[in-house]
Amino acid sequence: MSKISVDLAGNGYDILVEAGALEHVATHIMPFVSNKRVFIITDKNVADRWLLPITAKLKKSGLAISSHIVAAGERSKSWAGLEQLTDWLLDQGAERSDILIALGGGVIGDLTGFAASILKRGCQFIQIPTSLLAQVDSSVGGKTAINSRAGKNLIGRFNQPKYVLIDPLVLNSLPDRELRAGYAEVVKYGLINNPLFFEWCEQHGANLLRRDPDALSYAITQSVQTKASIVAEDEKELSGRRALLNLGHTFGHALEAETGYSSALVHGEAVAAGMALAYHYSVRRGHCTDAEAQRVTAHLDSVNLPHGLESAGVKASGETLIQHMLHDKKMTGGNLPFLLANGIGQTFLAPDVDLNDIAAFLDIAA
Ligand SMILES: NC(=O)c1ccc[n+]([C@@H]2O[C@H](COP(=O)([O-])OP(=O)(O)OC[C@H]3O[C@@H](n4cnc5c(N)ncnc54)[C@H](O)[C@@H]3O)[C@@H](O)[C@H]2O)c1
Ligand SMILES: [Zn+2]
Repeated sequence: MSKISVDLAGNGYDILVEAGALEHVATHIMPFVSNKRVFIITDKNVADRWLLPITAKLKKSGLAISSHIVAAGERSKSWAGLEQLTDWLLDQGAERSDILIALGGGVIGDLTGFAASILKRGCQFIQIPTSLLAQVDSSVGGKTAINSRAGKNLIGRFNQPKYVLIDPLVLNSLPDRELRAGYAEVVKYGLINNPLFFEWCEQHGANLLRRDPDALSYAITQSVQTKASIVAEDEKELSGRRALLNLGHTFGHALEAETGYSSALVHGEAVAAGMALAYHYSVRRGHCTDAEAQRVTAHLDSVNLPHGLESAGVKASGETLIQHMLHDKKMTGGNLPFLLANGIGQTFLAPDVDLNDIAAFLDIAA
């Protein structure tokens, strides 16, 4: 069991990582509940497996439960999904002093967190993330959003949860591909600033993907600690520190856009390929050695994650991919944030990347 604090003036919170924590879900969330009731927001897949046991435990502790189940998938993170959710909450008589529970993956966390930020000018929410990606990434840090016609996550707010309850055992029902995609974000934390953790991934990644509870707990704790400390230094992505979390994401975004954000390449897979490309581009720029980039590729390959254009199934030209990057929401003042590396666990924000050079690199990258 480990407890990690996100140190933020005024809106800090704790994250509990504990295998089996959901057995005692009522004890964990009770300190945050007023009005003796909670509103659970979840999706169909998660509801089928987890809603009943969790609801039963909360009811046993005397809480009234209302639950809202949305369709699984990115489409629920939309204006329509937000409208349905907020209308439902208002129909239920939700008040500002109530607390919402996001029980699900990143889609549910982002939608619920955003709804909480605007319901009656803001109520509280708790994250109970159920995908590996949500446990190591989206449930921590307070970014909430919905998608709009112009792109993903463009409408949203920073809104920190009151508490994050992570039970690695819920991952037992997560499909293998989703688990692997979430693992790409785990590897990311090693590559950002923790070479020893990357080494741990090389040794134990396969075990984690077999859902070994100890390996999962360890990796989730390491990941959350890194994210929490970076978020504490730069809550709203103002200083550039938080941008480190985007390692692999600018390249990855181009690959996702090229594959139409389809199931051909899910986010974590695109990030895996993007991280390998970032390392290989760092070699081209003389920042790190070829052996280091090959180490990244070899690990991703060993766990069946894409590690470049070919393995991601992308055939586009460098110029096409650059065009996708230019539509990335991370672009500011005509500049794109490229995260490059001086070595394993030594990621830095490169201010002066020439897009023509990136295009030339992508034309010859595998
Ligand atoms: N807020 C942030 O900081 C942040 C960071 C990264 C990603 N995101 C967002 O998160 C979303 C992606 O998150 P995700 O990968 O969790 O997607 P998701 O919420 O769509 O979950 C992936 C799939 O797994 C299913 N699922 C989740 N938990 C399950 C479980 N325990 N058992 C069975 N099935 C389960 C879901 O129903 C869904 O089909 C994207 O919308 C992305 O923009 C947000
Ligand atoms: Zn990501």
